[in-house]
Amino acid sequence: MNEDVRTILLVEDDEANRHSVTLILEQSGYLVLSATNGHEALDILRKSDIDLILSDLKMPLMDGMDVLKSARLIRPEVDVIIMTAHGTIETAVEAIKEGAYDFLAKPFKKATLLRTIEKSLERRSLVRENTRLKEALKQYESQKGIIGQSPAIRHVLDMISQVSSSSSTILIQGESGTGKELVAEAIHQSSPRAREPFLKVSCAALPETLLEAELFGYEKGAFTGATQRKEGRFEHAHRGTLFLDEIGEISLAVQVKLLRVLQEGEFQRLGSNASIHCDVRIIAASNRNLEEAVKEKTFREDLFYRLNVITITLPPLRSRREDIPILLDHFIRIYSEKNHKAVTGFDTEAMSYLTTYSWPGNIREVENTVERAVVLTKDKILTSDLLPQNIRQSPQMEGDEIKIPLGMPLEEVENILIRETLKKTDGDKTLAAKLLGIAPRTIYRKLEP
Ligand SMILES: Nc1ncnc2c1ncn2[C@@H]1O[C@H](COP(=O)(O)OP(=O)(O)OP(=O)(O)O)[C@@H](O)[C@H]1O
Ligand SMILES: [Mg+2]
Repeated sequence: MNEDVRTILLVEDDEANRHSVTLILEQSGYLVLSATNGHEALDILRKSDIDLILSDLKMPLMDGMDVLKSARLIRPEVDVIIMTAHGTIETAVEAIKEGAYDFLAKPFKKATLLRTIEKSLERRSLVRENTRLKEALKQYESQKGIIGQSPAIRHVLDMISQVSSSSSTILIQGESGTGKELVAEAIHQSSPRAREPFLKVSCAALPETLLEAELFGYEKGAFTGATQRKEGRFEHAHRGTLFLDEIGEISLAVQVKLLRVLQEGEFQRLGSNASIHCDVRIIAASNRNLEEAVKEKTFREDLFYRLNVITITLPPLRSRREDIPILLDHFIRIYSEKNHKAVTGFDTEAMSYLTTYSWPGNIREVENTVERAVVLTKDKILTSDLLPQNIRQSPQMEGDEIKIPLGMPLEEVENILIRETLKKTDGDKTLAAKLLGIAPRTIYRKLEP
């Protein structure tokens, strides 16, 4: 069906009038669905995509005011225009008060009818456009902190938009410093729960009993030192999102309790038998590979499957090197503002170190490196002497040559040599393999993150 055709629901018991209004509307290019009474009208409204309702006021069974009130409940975004031959100022005022968009006194001219309808539809598309823009802005706002243009990071952003509208449990995996917490926050911020709490529990930071108390709360006297009742994070996060960081570290006993919350949406405070219901979206993160933990029997398989409904895997920075310069710029802007400095960037030598370094600490390491350089610099341009020793020990490109410091791990030397040769061959792996005297297969294997 053509999307531009607007559908009008006409509610009119008088056959002659229904016929003539339908004719006028159809001649003007509208699609008309007509109902002879209010019940029929509401039925159509529930089932079809209606842009506007045009309803007579005086009808048997259910009059125009009833149609109006019910329509406002079923589809508040659809305007209602009331028509009547018994028009008095009072009924008009009453209809408008109940939320009618406008009022037409019978008999009305064709031009008046069409103008009123156009005005309403125009308003409706403005409202729609506005809602669409607001949604887009919300998405943009919540993702603007996630920097990167690589296909890998774009895929992560797509995943965030796809999963944010639901309440399903999400597992975020990735090395330390790849942005797991940032992504969890972005999901919450672009979800319908955005106005409710986003709470974080670092599961690795607490010993078992304290973690249980933190998550589920406790009653007075539940254990030594429990001098009064305390609510847990699950209660505080009600209707919001709970971010369980480093979930791979929790003990098997806590895993059982967590499983129960995920399965039944219920838990008990320590020292109590009363079940408490909660509506909490769980986002869990781990820098340990949980599948391996399951194999090693340190992580329950059933809990893993409950958590693993949707998994977002954050790529390490070394597998998306094109994002390094963008991230450096991003943090330079942040930290020069914070430190009231007008730093513009790194010089060429420093950039050559920064873009070839392997960044084992990922984005957090980039951030710390930039912060340190910005704080230390006296200049607007950051030089390589502001970089930590380990970064300056990474190999450096000089035209077609690489300077490799003594003592660099062979594996890293190999990776760098392969990567730089690939750059020279414009990504042609077969040619690069020939130059390096290895099989193309080896290149694929070595380049896996
Ligand atoms: N794509 C990104 N764009 C901008 N900043 C980022 C990005 N990813 C991470 N960061 C920043 O890097 C730092 C580390 O990120 P975060 O704390 O989310 O990592 P993590 O994966 O939770 O690490 P860990 O496993 O060590 O807890 C934060 O300051 C975060 O804002
Ligand atoms: Mg983290």
